[in-house]
Amino acid sequence: MKIKDLDVVIITEGRITKNFEAGEPIYLQPGQVGTVVMEIDDQTFEVEAWYSLRHGNRTGRSITDFSPKSHTCKSMTATRQSFSPAVYFVGAGPGDPDLLTIKGQKLLQAADLVLYADSLVPKQMLAEVGPQTECIATGSKTLETIVPLMITAVRQGKIVVRLHSGDLTLYSAIHEQMQALGEADIPFVCVPGISAFQAAAAILNCELTVPDLVQTIVLTRISGAASAVPEREELASLAYHQASLGLYLAARHVEKAQKQLLEHYPADTPVAVCFRVGWPDEKIWLVPLGEMAALSLRENLIRTTLYLISPALKTDLPRRSRLYHPDHSHIFRPKR
Ligand SMILES: C[S@@+](CC[C@H](N)C(=O)[O-])C[C@H]1O[C@@H](n2cnc3c(N)ncnc32)[C@H](O)[C@@H]1O
Repeated sequence: MKIKDLDVVIITEGRITKNFEAGEPIYLQPGQVGTVVMEIDDQTFEVEAWYSLRHGNRTGRSITDFSPKSHTCKSMTATRQSFSPAVYFVGAGPGDPDLLTIKGQKLLQAADLVLYADSLVPKQMLAEVGPQTECIATGSKTLETIVPLMITAVRQGKIVVRLHSGDLTLYSAIHEQMQALGEADIPFVCVPGISAFQAAAAILNCELTVPDLVQTIVLTRISGAASAVPEREELASLAYHQASLGLYLAARHVEKAQKQLLEHYPADTPVAVCFRVGWPDEKIWLVPLGEMAALSLRENLIRTTLYLISPALKTDLPRRSRLYHPDHSHIFRPKR
């Protein structure tokens, strides 16, 4: 039996189901590109990979080359149907494509237009976009250019993805974009991502809240040319708590940051200096706080560096949470 003889071919996420009689699934790799040779009932036939199938007009063979009447490209319709024209702010995660959320991935696959912050979102994050999708880097553009691009596209019925690094809640400058879209009556949706501090802690195999040691995480930055930190949030005052602290946007001001942190943290507090977490050239160093600035200067770290300052980064901590302790009972593990 050849594929053109099938009644219906349903393509769902990363999977083709030959939807006739037995209807067993054939798995393809999500994001696979190229020609896939499949065998069904001892017959061999070629189909373009999942990627192309969903974007029927790609060069080469596609599902539409087979009898169009009898084939349904469900994935494409389902993906497009589940996202209405709007601007989707998507947190891309730190740069490792495997750390993009499934929703973010679906949106990239469905997007007509992707506007991405190229200074912090590596090209590898765009591997999921379709061949017809227009991708525009925004690093050199102003809000005055970016917002009209989004408004025009949505008014044309398009799905727009605005891709920002990490999670949207931290230093993404989406507030003003949402405000402008709201004023223009353009619908928008936020899809969260994994922030750099979470990705770094995972690589370090570190829980940033260790019982009796530290139970708070502070996420902050150093004042820069683009945005000032309010005086009441000055780094030295946050350091007072000696909490786990994720310091963003600070590489250019690392000496000042170290000085302020040392007002309260002991000089031997461990610091993970995390450069381009999740990127192909990722580097992470673990040093005492007293050496944080010297290391950064020596390694010429001026961009895409996160500092994680935390007593929980000590590797020989004996502490244990009571949560899974046999002496501790709770609603899901009542006393016997
Ligand atoms: C404009 S902020 C964006 C933060 C992002 N929204 C997040 O949640 O990770 C950029 C700063 O975040 C940190 N950062 C973002 N991605 C990073 C990565 N992959 N590795 C290390 N630091 C990163 C750096 O401090 C960088 O200067």
